[in-house]
Amino acid sequence: MTTPGRLPYPISLTGDGITLREWRDEDLDELVAMLDEPDIARWTPMPSPFDVEAGIAYLKRARQGRVSGQRMQLAITADGGKPLGEVLLFGVDVGLREAELGYLVGAAHRRRGLARRSLTLLSGYARSTLSLNRLLLRIDAGNTASIAVARGCGYRLTGEPPILQEGPHGSTSLDTWESVPTGGGSRMERLRNVAARRYGRRV
Ligand SMILES: CC(C)(COP(=O)(O)OP(=O)(O)OC[C@H]1O[C@@H](n2cnc3c(N)ncnc32)[C@H](O)[C@@H]1OP(=O)(O)O)[C@@H](O)C(=O)NCCC(=O)NCCS
Repeated sequence: MTTPGRLPYPISLTGDGITLREWRDEDLDELVAMLDEPDIARWTPMPSPFDVEAGIAYLKRARQGRVSGQRMQLAITADGGKPLGEVLLFGVDVGLREAELGYLVGAAHRRRGLARRSLTLLSGYARSTLSLNRLLLRIDAGNTASIAVARGCGYRLTGEPPILQEGPHGSTSLDTWESVPTGGGSRMERLRNVAARRYGRRV
């Protein structure tokens, strides 16, 4: 990262037929239509039903996270226009050079490679520009679609214990998936990182 611990803002990333851009206030209606949906309610921590009030709060929080440089929360678009989904990067640990990513795609736009292309684009940016090494996804073992996206982008399941959560639409058991550069980071280094995160100690 250019300034340690602070993510660049604003940005726009283009490649492979998509543009990831900052959310705008004018996206409110599209955002609400996209997030008020059963799969999003089941597999993500979004409030459900997701109404206009939730949308306003969501865009406000996204803006705060972007301005403060704490997270990346970008709309997936074809050409910078209408939002089709969202891809995120958060929980950056500068010392361990790792961060977590997430994604969702509107129901009407699924199975067109949008999640795969967005995750690939943001993962590449995280490596090349943010100098992050280990990228993480947390995915419920029952979320077939998300697992297919993770695999398709070269992420692999780690042996870390699942994170159990109770939500209004059922319980989730989140497995940790990781992407580390080929040849980069020895097995020992990765195990040390796991230990450091688990016990709150940097090595
Ligand atoms: C998971 C999600 C983002 C996938 O988005 P998408 O744009 O449809 O995914 P893609 O089109 O990029 O698909 C990537 C791969 O996953 C596969 N895939 C996608 N949906 C699938 C499904 N329901 N079942 C099986 N495979 C699926 C595709 O066939 C593709 O495989 P391929 O690369 O071998 O062709 C979308 O279903 C979604 O938003 N779900 C609800 C929110 C969510 O679960 N987010 C992730 C939380 S961890």
